[in-house]
Amino acid sequence: MNLALINGKAFIKGKLVKANILIQGKKIEKISASKIKADKEIDCKGKIILPGAIDVHVHFRSPGFEYKEDFFTGSLAALHGGITTIMDMPNTKPVTSTVKALEAKRKLVKKHCLTNFGIYMAALNNNLSEISKAKNLRAVKLYYGSTTGNILMNKKTAIEKLFKTAKKKGFVVAVHAEDEEIMKENEKKFRKSKDPAIHEKIRNEEAEAKAIKEVLSIQQKAGNKIHIAHISSEKGLNLVKKAKKRRNGNKVTCEVTPHHLFLDSSDYKKLGNLIKCNPSIKGAKHRKALFNGLKNKAIDLVATDHAPHSFKEKKQSYGKSPSGIPGEETMLPLLLDAVNKKQISLKRIVEAVSEKPAQVFGWKNKGFIKTGFDADLVIINPTGKYKVENNKLFTKAAYSPWNGKTLKGRVENTIIGGQVFG
Ligand code: NCD
Ligand code: ZN
Ligand code: ZN
Repeated sequence: MNLALINGKAFIKGKLVKANILIQGKKIEKISASKIKADKEIDCKGKIILPGAIDVHVHFRSPGFEYKEDFFTGSLAALHGGITTIMDMPNTKPVTSTVKALEAKRKLVKKHCLTNFGIYMAALNNNLSEISKAKNLRAVKLYYGSTTGNILMNKKTAIEKLFKTAKKKGFVVAVHAEDEEIMKENEKKFRKSKDPAIHEKIRNEEAEAKAIKEVLSIQQKAGNKIHIAHISSEKGLNLVKKAKKRRNGNKVTCEVTPHHLFLDSSDYKKLGNLIKCNPSIKGAKHRKALFNGLKNKAIDLVATDHAPHSFKEKKQSYGKSPSGIPGEETMLPLLLDAVNKKQISLKRIVEAVSEKPAQVFGWKNKGFIKTGFDADLVIINPTGKYKVENNKLFTKAAYSPWNGKTLKGRVENTIIGGQVFG
């Protein structure tokens, strides 16, 4: 059985072109401007076909926190959002810090996950031997500042060793970059306040900038691949920009989340702890700097940092409410909406959600629509409307900061390894 996507426009070699796509098994068999015959056809008239998004930063919470999310619900949310590959973070229970935990998680994920997946290992001050033993490891996560899960690695000598191993083995080190001491000091200062907006003052620009500076200076000597996760501030971004120009700068990349692109501190008033996340949502000047950074390629890619918690947990007071925002279903519609508003080009979006994530994290045969590549595709109605509604979301979190908002750009079907969903 083969499948043809006919009459649509596909994003190929940097632009939209009329193309019929033949899918055989899990692969793209043929791309042609002329007619293609197949056992099954999907008429894509008026639609655009993009390479599926690769989300390099998600928390699907299993094992250990299945009441927040699991790999079935998380991946269901992903494919409704046009995401065909996810990379899951290690702050689960147990933490993915040993080969045993990694292998157990891989087995579990394989059973329940509808999308392609990669699994991060956590780097700790004392688990380098485990990381060295792990097979097929694309990336490790270094929590330089603490966040949900309270995993921490901020001993310089241990980080130097990790980076040397990363260089030797070729895996990426993704970093949660916030300075522990600055955050602790700020916490003391604002202890009495219950206003969610103080999150921005506790996890401030200085905390991010100091951490980024420190990890990048270790990377400069070691020469490993380093990826700064969820960048949130102007200073942080400027440090990454500078680092990209110096020695070993070609190994430096960073990501921005949809919530740091589309929300700013003025949103705390209405949304409160629902937008409490780490690093914090900051002022409008930061949001603008990040948006420009995405446009001018200072920021390499967009990842969701999909971090679901139960609504009940999120509705607690500032001190108790856990940090994190779900984002699988809204990333692509938000970005397509921005394209429709002429705020950014479609080309830049495809680079940021498909092409660059594939290149940085070594997803061979993914990220591009090319003959011989995996048939991971998303069919989009570019002018179709998508209304975000909490009660229609597939994530167990079942809330979104964009609840009630209508976005222009609708995911119609997602194809993963030739299998059609939607
Ligand atoms: C993440 C979580 O809940 O796992 N929370 C968050 O606010 N981003 C952890 C993280 O990515 O820092
Ligand atoms: Zn983080
Ligand atoms: Zn995260």
